[in-house]
Amino acid sequence: MRQALEAIGALSDWAMFAASWNDLPLDEYLAESQRCRRRRFAVYAIASGDIVERQPHQPHYQHRNYNVLFGGIERWFSPMAEDVGAGPSMRTILRFCDRLFRSRMPSAGTWHVEVHQFRIDARSGAAGHPTPEGVHRDGVDFVLVLLINRENIVSGTTTVYTAEGHPLGSFTLTDPLDAALVDDNRVAHGVTPVTTLDRSRPGHRDVLVVTFRRRSSRSWHEPTESKQPQSRHETGFTRYDENVLADTL
Ligand SMILES: [Fe+2]
Repeated sequence: MRQALEAIGALSDWAMFAASWNDLPLDEYLAESQRCRRRRFAVYAIASGDIVERQPHQPHYQHRNYNVLFGGIERWFSPMAEDVGAGPSMRTILRFCDRLFRSRMPSAGTWHVEVHQFRIDARSGAAGHPTPEGVHRDGVDFVLVLLINRENIVSGTTTVYTAEGHPLGSFTLTDPLDAALVDDNRVAHGVTPVTTLDRSRPGHRDVLVVTFRRRSSRSWHEPTESKQPQSRHETGFTRYDENVLADTL
């Protein structure tokens, strides 16, 4: 994935970019006993021709169809730091996604792009839950899940499912820049809880989640249609890592 990203642009601030995950506030929408998630949020508009513009801070909203826990409410999260959101790594990741997703959907026009920095904490006797809503779709067109770091954790296995809930495949993002690219109109996804490897100290899983939705296609409060994958080559997801650079999505 590093190779694919660096073909698009620089990752020269990667160390600072990854270190910014050390400064994420707790997600206070989770019940107090389940506060294992930290996060920040940013929104961009990306028009044809690599025109990337960060948007004013705004809430994150998912329809109830996509999030049984938090759907139907506007959730306000702390903003991603300005320098992190404007730096080379973030710009390169956004431009990479724009090119790839636009190649799959040439008529997309301007994208509404949401960026989530997540840290899932795990402690001895308390697993961290990356997707407490269970198997889900994000309610967008495309999703990038990019691993930033894993520290003293095991598991955190991603499984991709058909719209009917049949598993299509599982994989674990283990190294920085390992990634999953998901066609959210076709498939659902979920991630297993993470637990500590060395139980004497805490652990965490840091990921960047970037969602792309056509801004013109529908209201952000409306669900999208679901479509069953048609063949093995249309499973709707691709796992990217240093050794796997599949060109299908
Ligand atoms: Fe998701």
